Amino acid sequence: MTATLLHGDRNVVGVVTSGGTESCLLPVKTYRDYGRRARGIRRPNMVIPETAHVAWEKGAEYFGVKAVHAPLDDDWRVDAGAVKKLVNRNTVMILGSAPDYPHGIVDPITELGRIALETGTPLHVDACLGGDILPFAEMLGYDIPAWDYRVPGVTSISADTHKYGFSAKGASVLTYRNIEMMKHQMFVYENWPGGVFASPALLGTRPGGAYAAAWAAMQAMGVEGYKAITKETMEAAKRLIDGINGIPELEVIGRPNASVFSYRSVDRDVNIYAVGDLMEKKGWHIDRLQRPEALHAMVTPLHAGVVDAYLDDLAQAVSTARAKPELALRGGAAMYGMIANIPLRGMVRKNILEMFAGMYGPDAKMIDPASAGINDDEAGEVPLAEKAAAFYLKLRERFRR
Ligand SMILES: Cc1ncc(COP(=O)(O)O)c(C=O)c1O
Repeated sequence: MTATLLHGDRNVVGVVTSGGTESCLLPVKTYRDYGRRARGIRRPNMVIPETAHVAWEKGAEYFGVKAVHAPLDDDWRVDAGAVKKLVNRNTVMILGSAPDYPHGIVDPITELGRIALETGTPLHVDACLGGDILPFAEMLGYDIPAWDYRVPGVTSISADTHKYGFSAKGASVLTYRNIEMMKHQMFVYENWPGGVFASPALLGTRPGGAYAAAWAAMQAMGVEGYKAITKETMEAAKRLIDGINGIPELEVIGRPNASVFSYRSVDRDVNIYAVGDLMEKKGWHIDRLQRPEALHAMVTPLHAGVVDAYLDDLAQAVSTARAKPELALRGGAAMYGMIANIPLRGMVRKNILEMFAGMYGPDAKMIDPASAGINDDEAGEVPLAEKAAAFYLKLRERFRR
């Protein structure tokens, strides 16, 4: 079903995996091994957009493939010219997203396909987010740039059923243009006392329940069902994007292709993270981005009924953030501001690892959900945020000096 949606021919093959991350990790291993076996590459690198999902960084770290980051063009898509310059004889794969997680924008897959063919480098399209919405948006007549197997040069695509396929969590589909390439993904160990072992994907025992649920969701929804919810989703996203662009202090980043987008402040008196905190106080779940600092939204059909409420709350949050600039130094705003701006990135890493050790160590405390919201003056502040804010102020002082 997924191969058909992606316009693959009968040679397109694949595996069901446990989620987007597994569908990103595996191509790194596959193409590393293909590069080694077919092209003798010993010090592999992969050229990925700056906006590639972080799962690709994980793949790079796990499989020992250096991630080379390509910058974005003026439209917030990966700069194909830069990709071309970065590909060298040790490049085992190129990546494009359809769309990327941070800004919801499809990379120039046709241009990347050309580079892939010219240089003989595999090209993976990470459509974990878009794989089960872009095909239906196209069927509905939305203008979607080419990104699937119709693009020459694309060698594999990941598409998550547990995102816009609306199945239970724990299922994604990773496809390859042909079985020859996918063979490099397979693991076989013939000398294990437990028996000859072979597995097509990353896990040993796999979450069959989630896979069955994904299959059932696809059967139940059918093409017409997906088209109906895609229409609702796309319309809700468009109303939100237009509404946010109508707030003078804010701007949606680039021109998102589907239902995921981000927005930032274009007014130096409005701190976008403070806006995020105020929105959370009103009960919205807000994801924060960095580089540039922005807030993020992922729209589903459930949001169609709350577009106006979101926009009203956002307009109010923007005027409160402007009226109370001190909010930028409190709670979540201070913490996210610190994380985004600390020049010594190693310190961020160190602090997060310490926090993890606190969470998972023997003295771990459960976070009290009642106090986990971002509070202002009256109620008890989030201890972590408070600590982070104090740390940020100290750092700022140090750098000023
Ligand atoms: C583009 C993209 N790739 C990969 C992933 C990783 O997916 P998962 O969270 O299912 O592991 C995500 C998650 O949001 C994503 O947006």
